[in-house]
Amino acid sequence: METLVLVAIVVILATFFLGSTIFAPSRTVEINPAADDVAVEEQEFTPRTLYKYNGFDLEQIYIAVKGNVYDVSKSRQFYGPSGPYSNFAGHDASRGLAKNSFDESMVRDFGEPIDDLKDLTEAEWKALDGWEETFKSKYPKVGVLVEEKK
Ligand code: HEM
Repeated sequence: METLVLVAIVVILATFFLGSTIFAPSRTVEINPAADDVAVEEQEFTPRTLYKYNGFDLEQIYIAVKGNVYDVSKSRQFYGPSGPYSNFAGHDASRGLAKNSFDESMVRDFGEPIDDLKDLTEAEWKALDGWEETFKSKYPKVGVLVEEKK
């Protein structure tokens, strides 16, 4: 009887051990680490190269805010093609964030110069700075937005 119990325990332990080894999930690599977790190599984007990351053709979705480019792919529900803020995807979202509007007129076409935001009021700059803090803490920065070389 005791032997039987012993054998049963050994079988249960062996099943457990083997099972956890065989079925253990393989280590996954974080694709979108939160900001500060990992140093992501920075790149220079022009409005034209940024446009590629508008969520239609690529998995990655990037948005520029005050000259910095953030990887917002983990919030595809906001910025993806059917999201409420898809107009910002692949664009400089600064004006829209400052003016609290996701209207199409808030973003520039990739052929146009980068928005200098010179007309923003103090309150709008404050709103934009607040949004910048959100993006900085939530998303990895992947680069900067620069003018296309002529
Ligand atoms: C119509 C009124 C609006 C409602 C009810 C609304 C509601 C929301 C909600 C529920 C979220 C998700 C928050 C979360 O789960 O983290 C969100 C996120 C966001 N909202 Fe609005 N929103 C409105 C207008 C706007 C406008 C006009 C803008 C234009 C700048 C805007 C920009 C954003 C952005 C950028 C995010 C995502 C932030 C992130 O990436 O975490 N929202 N909004």
